[in-house]
Amino acid sequence: MMKNTTPDIKWVTRPRETKELELSKQMFPVSRAREARLFHRQIPGYAISPLRALPNLAGLIGVGGIWVKDESCRLELNSFKILGGSYAIYRFIQKRLGLSSQQLPYEYLISSEVKQALGKITFASATDGNHGRGIAWASQKLGFDCVIYVHSETSRRRIDAIRSYGATVKVIEGNYDDAVRQIVTDADTNGWQIISDTSWDGYTEIPTWIMQGYTTMFAEIQEQFSGQGIIKPTHIFVQAGVGALAASVIGYYHSLFGQDAPKCIVVEPENAACIYESAKIGDGRAHTVSGALDTIMAGLACGEPNPIAWELLDQTADAFVTVPDYVAAKGMRIYATPLHDDPFIVSGESGAVTLGALVAILEENGVDELRDFLGIDQQSQILFLNTEGNTDPVGFRQIIWEGANPVPKEYWSDHD
Ligand SMILES: Cc1ncc(COP(=O)(O)O)c(C=O)c1O
Repeated sequence: MMKNTTPDIKWVTRPRETKELELSKQMFPVSRAREARLFHRQIPGYAISPLRALPNLAGLIGVGGIWVKDESCRLELNSFKILGGSYAIYRFIQKRLGLSSQQLPYEYLISSEVKQALGKITFASATDGNHGRGIAWASQKLGFDCVIYVHSETSRRRIDAIRSYGATVKVIEGNYDDAVRQIVTDADTNGWQIISDTSWDGYTEIPTWIMQGYTTMFAEIQEQFSGQGIIKPTHIFVQAGVGALAASVIGYYHSLFGQDAPKCIVVEPENAACIYESAKIGDGRAHTVSGALDTIMAGLACGEPNPIAWELLDQTADAFVTVPDYVAAKGMRIYATPLHDDPFIVSGESGAVTLGALVAILEENGVDELRDFLGIDQQSQILFLNTEGNTDPVGFRQIIWEGANPVPKEYWSDHD
């Protein structure tokens, strides 16, 4: 293990030979990804989200390929999160009714017969934005009530977006983790059914379903890569809030490729880096960071790792990296100003941070050890997940138009 103390980018790396694969295979069997995909394909409006290539940018920064799974066009929700929430609700209903997936096609799932059989259900969740919107959307589609708790720093646009799907939204004093704690208490009192993307003692089944729901995205990616003659990416940069997405993509690829899985790099905002802190402490346990979790990356502003996600990440991730906000803002601007005929990509703060992180790792001083460890070169085929589009239009414009969160001048690049 090596660590650094460079002020802007921090990291912890893990040597390859320690990878355990059992948990990945258990949580992300290939058959489950197939099942999740079969479910999502039945949702009206479902389409494979694009895997976009940015060859000119790849050439400029000296890597073999940059591939961006663009979730900004996922259904009508501009974020990957709907894949997890919808699949978890589906599995919950399936279990409640004692039906197999063949016995519960989408048409039947949304029928009045199923609704009657289930009786009244209120789905509930805490969110920092995108997950709650997905749960509200799915509840509305199925005709159930929905209650979403957000924390006090959540932007009005994000709250309005959740309300637009008919959910009741309550603002909780404190941060995301306070909102989670409050909804657990209130759900118990009111008999609500929590669909959470984080887990706790005695509550792991639904968060596991959520992570399995995300695998539709990766099954699509593999199909799209095979169309390009690429067996797998060499590196995956994945952003983390509670770590469910990161565990899902890393678990999926380890389940599929074992020790030959791509190098996986988990990226977090420096002010909400609970996964990195857990890796740095290195005692195998999940550790919490507290406070305001002040970052422009609203979707990643979480201080407590999802324990089941952390367990998998601890065994499989190759590197844990933290970056300041300007790295995410730069990533957004790079996506928004394509080189030559590279495609234009709309990417929000939490979506763009991983591309920003790669560029910072390649360009900033004092990061040589991490660069060497990752072995990124002209052969590398690097995968990014653009996990959200323009989910907060005011914040988006402030960064793209007004230049908010500028890169410090010493890190300005001088590419030709
Ligand atoms: C846009 C976006 N990207 C990434 C994440 C990270 O997901 P996780 O909390 O599972 O780590 C989130 C979580 O809300 C998100 O909204």
